[in-house]
Amino acid sequence: MTLPPRKLRSAAWFGTADKNGFMYRSWMKSQGIPDHEFQGKPIIGICNTWSELTPCNSNLRKLAEHVKRGVSEAGGFPVEFPVFSNGESNLRPTAMFTRNLASMDVEEAIRGNPIDGVVLLVGCDKTTPALLMGAASCDVPTIAVSTGPMLNGKHQGRDIGSGTAVWQLSEQVKAGRITLHDFLSAEAGMSRSVGTCNTMGTASTMACAAEALGVTLPHNAAIPSVDARRYVLAHMSGMRIVDMVLEDLTLSKLLTRAAFENAIRTIAAIGGSTNAVIHLKAIAGRIGVPLELEDWTRVGRGTPTLVDLQPSGRFLMEEFYYAGGLPAVLRRLGEAGLLPHAEALTANGRSLWDNVKDAPILNDEVIRPLDRPLVADGGMCILRGNLAPRGAVLKPSAATESLLQHRGRAVVFENLDDYKARIADPELDVTRDSVLVMKNCGPRGYPGMAEVGNMGLPPKLLAQGVTDMVRLSDARMSGTAYGTVVLHVAPEARAGGPLAIVRDGDLIELDCAAGRLHLAISDDELALRLAAWREAQRPDPRDASGYRGLYVDRVLQADEGCDFDFLVGCRGAEVPPHSH
Ligand code: FES
Ligand code: MG
Repeated sequence: MTLPPRKLRSAAWFGTADKNGFMYRSWMKSQGIPDHEFQGKPIIGICNTWSELTPCNSNLRKLAEHVKRGVSEAGGFPVEFPVFSNGESNLRPTAMFTRNLASMDVEEAIRGNPIDGVVLLVGCDKTTPALLMGAASCDVPTIAVSTGPMLNGKHQGRDIGSGTAVWQLSEQVKAGRITLHDFLSAEAGMSRSVGTCNTMGTASTMACAAEALGVTLPHNAAIPSVDARRYVLAHMSGMRIVDMVLEDLTLSKLLTRAAFENAIRTIAAIGGSTNAVIHLKAIAGRIGVPLELEDWTRVGRGTPTLVDLQPSGRFLMEEFYYAGGLPAVLRRLGEAGLLPHAEALTANGRSLWDNVKDAPILNDEVIRPLDRPLVADGGMCILRGNLAPRGAVLKPSAATESLLQHRGRAVVFENLDDYKARIADPELDVTRDSVLVMKNCGPRGYPGMAEVGNMGLPPKLLAQGVTDMVRLSDARMSGTAYGTVVLHVAPEARAGGPLAIVRDGDLIELDCAAGRLHLAISDDELALRLAAWREAQRPDPRDASGYRGLYVDRVLQADEGCDFDFLVGCRGAEVPPHSH
């Protein structure tokens, strides 16, 4: 490719023959880098979330080597750097608590360093949005490469899915249907290789969202982590980012309003995680694209779920890749006129439709045809009402259809500890028609918005064979979980949302078709209870300092993507002043 010479951002570091240029180059040379690497080559930052504490991403060291080969082959100079790694499985109180922290790390690392373009190495749930958020605030040419899903879990002769099996098996052991030994023996079988959860959980959802947004090469979402083709994709992404720099194909040219609408439609078609509602809003906020909860209704509702993957369906990510992966789904959507913006530009310089229009579709059980969907309407259900003035979310494809319209008496837990202390009490006044309500698990209240919205059912009801109940909270839910679960109630209880004043026995009305969530008390009663609640509030000393203090003070509510208020927006990548 012959392109007009373009002044590279990195030239502000390495391109001068003065004291500063000397310093920038000299210290880099301590790593054994020859002169010619500094001579006008695009410098490609490889932003790596590798960590042994984020086991899902532990393949990224190896993937980074393949990205580097691609960068070098295309005439770029690769430089790998670590950023904060949010591992979903180990991090407490939640990986969400540090998503914004990681995004700040990414943003400042990109802007402050001699980087012309960046490859984001992502995987586990929060790493994908964190890195996209940070990169979006800089708006340099950017491509993402995911670590890829784990191989299928295997246990006692059948396939089991990450996370989903944990919820299922733990309920079975509580109900006395399997032994504790059987339960624990599934641990090693569930996680047989490196990679992200093999269900359509949040990691897979965000990998699909990134592909639909056009910030990855085709097939990035589904190739298993240990499949050799994953390394090839890393290599090709490394080659491609060099040309993206030469073409000045910055992130804002990909992350358009059209791209977000494509992603919303895609998430409905794959039966994706409710967490995507929060993450997409946060990414959109960084790049300056307006996105509202109602866009999920307007764009997403009515979209059939075609992908038959757990937790909504049967299969796992390995089968998804072998069936054709996301390009096959996008082709099916496009052929049915359901891809809102087929012309949207993607990282390889082609339109989304050009990338997928001839994609092979290899298994109609895994990626179903339009006339035989897994769920006829797989879009997220956005709820509003006096109980959630700023919205709440429910995933119909993971719910029980007969519960999508429901009236029931509240059984209220003040927080997660209260829930744990009382849920197994045989005296708990609860029936299968009750609505389990939990407070103080939102962004500020937990803090970090725990994935506890899919509260396990009372054991005495499980023993009666009850498999689902309406549950409601300001928490999130793991993308691998399921149930008729109302999530992300905003404002959260801790922020003085009406959820804070729900009492045992109050009647709650859920109507998904109408998008309504109602607490059957009068406006006057609601106002009285809220005034009393405010009166009783005392500050928590743990919120006074440290990162927790910053977090609780500045985190936005779920409907605004839980970003920090001061991080919203794109600040660009203007070269900062010299440090000497
Ligand atoms: Fe990392 Fe599921 S825990 S992807
Ligand atoms: Mg998860």
